[in-house]
Parts: sequence; C-alpha cells; structure tokens
Amino acid sequence: MQRPCACQAVAILTNVNGAPHRLVAFPILSIFLIRNEFHGLLLSWIEAEVTRPRVLFVCLGNICRSPLAEAALRAEADRVGLDIEVDSAGTGDWHVGEPPDSRAIAQARRHGIDISGYRGRQVRKADFDDFTHVLALDHDNLAALEDLVPPGRENRLSLLLDHVEGCEGQPVADPYFGDADGFERTWSQVTAAARALVSELAR
Ligand code: 4NP
Repeated sequence: MQRPCACQAVAILTNVNGAPHRLVAFPILSIFLIRNEFHGLLLSWIEAEVTRPRVLFVCLGNICRSPLAEAALRAEADRVGLDIEVDSAGTGDWHVGEPPDSRAIAQARRHGIDISGYRGRQVRKADFDDFTHVLALDHDNLAALEDLVPPGRENRLSLLLDHVEGCEGQPVADPYFGDADGFERTWSQVTAAARALVSELAR
C-alpha cells in the first residue's frame, strides 16, 4: 500500500476525534509528519547527489574533441534518462573562455546539438575531487593528467576509448589541424564512447 503523504495523514488522523482534538492534533502531527517527510526527501537527495556519476572529458585545447564528447554523453544520458553531470576541459590554456572550434560546433549541429554556448577551461587538480570519472581523449593528455592527479584519486582517471570494447588503448585522434572528415571521425568515436559509458554507469 502506498504511504499517505504528510497532509493526507494529518487529515485522516484529525478526522477521527472531532473538532476540539483536531485543533491540538493538527499542528503537532503536521510538524512531526512534515519533518519526517522532509528528512526522507533530504536523505534521498543526498543519496542521489553522492551516487550520481560526474564525468569530465579532457583533451588538449577543450575546443574540438572534449566538447564533442561532452555533447555526445549529455545526449545519450538524456536519451536513456540517466542522471549524470558532464563537463570538459583542456590540459592547455590557449582557449580558456573561448567557444568550441567552429567545425566542432557545425559537427554537433549536424546531429541536432548546439554547443556554441560551451566555453573552454583548463583542467585543475580539484577536478579529481569534483568528478568521479576523468577521461583523457588521448595518451598525451592522459600523461599530463597522470602528473596532476592527487594521491588516492588515480582510479578516477582513464583513457576514454578503454571504455569501448575493441578500441582499448586507442586515442581519439586530434582533428584540429585536419579537415571536416576528422571531425566526423571524432564524432563517431565519442558517440561510441558515450553509449559504452552510459551502459557502464547505469549498472
Ligand atoms: P582539442 O584540439 O584538443 O581536441 O581541443 C586542439 C585544439 C587546439 C589546439 C590543439 C588541439 N591548439 O594547438 O591550439
């Protein structure tokens, strides 16, 4: 049977004994039940916050690969209704505060996603406290993150394509100095990774 909510319970109990009792019972029961219900809600909120996956993608400039990975994971998590926090950053600082590369914006737009409002930022040590998963897009960025990770947080760090069956050990190649085909390839790699991550995180 479904538990009555605080207001329903107060209405049921105060109806038993007539009006004079109701005057006393109503405020006392209200405070008690509302407090209990609030306590329950607070506990479930804390539990959801603690267990919620928080994923950070890291590439070099934070304007091509990692924003696309961020967009792909957001879209996949939305599709399956997974509650998740997603962000991206770069190991370099050249593009801090800038929007993604116009070719990355166009690539996401071809798939119905607007990433023009994203802004570049540089990864920092505290990200290893704030995120449950820090995913490097290639080996150079993985090495840079290995130099940054605080002791005890190493298990939060991995190479992105290690999460995709059959692609373990592979980098997401940097499309920055190439043509539009490179962005198409990046998109297919990060969407495969997003699908794999969602099924891994939903377990
Ligand atoms: P990303 O690509 O790491 O995928 O964002 C790059 C963006 C900028 C530069 C290199 C790679 N850059 O040299 O400025």
